[in-house]
Amino acid sequence: MGILTLSEKIYWGVFYMHRKTAVITGGGSGFGREVALQLAKKGTNLSIVDISEENGEEAVRLCKESGSDAIFIQADVSKVEDVKRYVAQTVEYFGKIDLFFNNAGISGSGVRTVECSIEEFNAIVDVNLKGVFYGLKFVISEMLKTGGGVMRRSNCKYCFTGRIGWNTYPGRIFSNKTCCYWAYKGYCRRVWKGKYQN
Ligand SMILES: NC(=O)c1ccc[n+]([C@@H]2O[C@H](COP(=O)([O-])OP(=O)(O)OC[C@H]3O[C@@H](n4cnc5c(N)ncnc54)[C@H](O)[C@@H]3O)[C@@H](O)[C@H]2O)c1
Repeated sequence: MGILTLSEKIYWGVFYMHRKTAVITGGGSGFGREVALQLAKKGTNLSIVDISEENGEEAVRLCKESGSDAIFIQADVSKVEDVKRYVAQTVEYFGKIDLFFNNAGISGSGVRTVECSIEEFNAIVDVNLKGVFYGLKFVISEMLKTGGGVMRRSNCKYCFTGRIGWNTYPGRIFSNKTCCYWAYKGYCRRVWKGKYQN
């Protein structure tokens, strides 16, 4: 599409997001909620998936206030059955999935490797690694039925590689606003390309 002016970007952003269906895991707070609200303003249907009912319901309320249709699905992304259910419920309600923000994640305590409990390590792997894979597997299966879609993962280079002296995710590096901007920008860019990307 070449280099776009600001007004062209806004036009194409609105055009492509309108009536698309987005699944956002971890949509109850942080990046997930902010991306949901930005998409809601563009008329995107939203399926907010979160383990926290309170946060998820609040995100849905805010999305509806912005004029989009939104549903909350309480699910734990580290459980295969929950992932299958949030995919099935989204398709049942909205008919398809166009966008997937595979965002739910947990931060570790940031302690050193020797101090990290096995339980904490396993919980991080279950949510941040297995949960992401389950989401990809079952959402891609649905997207392929309707010709493709767009997906984005919130990630951090330290999530699995770690930093010297740190075992678990060390915490926030950028402000939410900055990260939301990049997450959202990633969405738009991929939608403009109109391509299925894994
Ligand atoms: N904050 C940062 O600086 C930063 C940087 C890079 C990447 N990330 C990643 O971005 C993602 C979102 O970060 P955030 O700062 O918005 O976090 P956050 O804690 O504000 O939001 C995460 C959301 O995920 C939900 N969640 C947690 N475990 C879940 C589970 N098992 N199933 C379903 N939902 C679950 C939480 O309830 C919460 O609503 C995470 O994956 C994080 O690792 C964050």
